[in-house]
Amino acid sequence: NAMFTWQRTAYHFQPQRNWMNGCAGPLYHKGWYHIFYQYNPDSAVWGNITWGHAVSRDLIHWLLLPLALVPDRWYDVNGVWTGSATRHPDGNIYMLYTGSTGNLTQVQNLAHPADPSDPLLLNWVKNPANPVLLPPPGIGPKDFRDPTTAWLGPDGLWRVAIGSRMEKLGITLVYKTRDFLSYELLDHYLHSVPGTGMWECVDFFPVAVNGTKGLDTSAAGEGIKHVLKASLDDTKLDHFAVGTYDPVEDLWTPDDPKNDVGIGLKYDYGRYYASKTFYDQEKQRRILWGWINETDTEFDDLKKGWASLQTIPRTVVLDGRTGADLLQWPVEEIESLRLRSYCFESSLAPDVFKVVYGSSIPVVGDEKLQMRVLVDHSIVESFGQGGRRVISSRVYPTKAIYGDARLFLFNNATDVNVKVKLKIWEMNSAFIRPYPLDQL
Ligand code: FRU
Repeated sequence: NAMFTWQRTAYHFQPQRNWMNGCAGPLYHKGWYHIFYQYNPDSAVWGNITWGHAVSRDLIHWLLLPLALVPDRWYDVNGVWTGSATRHPDGNIYMLYTGSTGNLTQVQNLAHPADPSDPLLLNWVKNPANPVLLPPPGIGPKDFRDPTTAWLGPDGLWRVAIGSRMEKLGITLVYKTRDFLSYELLDHYLHSVPGTGMWECVDFFPVAVNGTKGLDTSAAGEGIKHVLKASLDDTKLDHFAVGTYDPVEDLWTPDDPKNDVGIGLKYDYGRYYASKTFYDQEKQRRILWGWINETDTEFDDLKKGWASLQTIPRTVVLDGRTGADLLQWPVEEIESLRLRSYCFESSLAPDVFKVVYGSSIPVVGDEKLQMRVLVDHSIVESFGQGGRRVISSRVYPTKAIYGDARLFLFNNATDVNVKVKLKIWEMNSAFIRPYPLDQL
């Protein structure tokens, strides 16, 4: 449909057509970054959820592979939902995912690559022991989904966290397992916050107090903080908090109770949900993916034949200057798309502007106010103060397209002269192509 062609983005990850929501099981394996994603192969609206699969050498250019997992068993016939990958020291990959059963009960299932030595991990096998976890007593059958990447505790057992709720109390359950087949539910939550409702897509990961390196999910101890993130089903917002994890008691406490999960900081102050991190062992960084859906009508989504994008993958580290924030920054590989650049120095006059999304940004010490903006047709991702605050939004202008697009910078301050430096890069397109061609 020609009317919508220009909305199609050029370097944000998306399948060729149809519906996509959150990312699942991202990992780096034998030279390739893998993304799996909630995908409806039949339509541009949610339903019939499978795991789409794509691989990349650099997180920018992608080869779209055949579907990795489809709803073909009683325990996932209503959808192969979100899950996470655990790279085991035994060389295998344990992929835990939520299945929606024939009667819409949420259960956890295990899948493995048919051949872990295949860099593309083309074929996946569902474990005959599935489902490996049923909703425990007291937990609603539709409130038990999205298992995390497992982390190894000091007792040699793996831990897996799963988000849920008890009425309006948002909770994170923790299970211990040796073999990913049998599990023991801990008698307390990893954490809970009253009034926050169902926690979807829980993510739990360590960050270094000093330095810019990412950490393996099992890292714990001196000089390490832990981030707990929940996607709040009630508000469709991704909230995180920085805190301290006790690996013996399996308890996590926020550093600042006023900034707890669901009541404090958000990853992104725009259109953003169901995010997930993974540890890139090749470049020793932690990478965050987020899902950005449309803000247009379902009717238009169906007409244009596709819906939703993933953000540019962002590295995530603890903000050493505030100690309380995270810094998110587009992966360095995106700079390979830069073509021509332009540099301007100017003083800009005050003007009026209309805020669509907004947030305040702490500017600490001698920092200057900084902003980086990625524009890709119908999406704008903005990073303030080196990624201390991030805003993603969708835009559907009818006139400001292609050569008519403009970026305006408004200075709202009164009685001050503001010196502004602007650097503009024209961006190339990323290749996002089916491989092999005849398999899609
Ligand atoms: C998040 C979510 C997950 C679930 C998946 C289903 O948006 O609802 O909780 O696993 O999407 O597609």
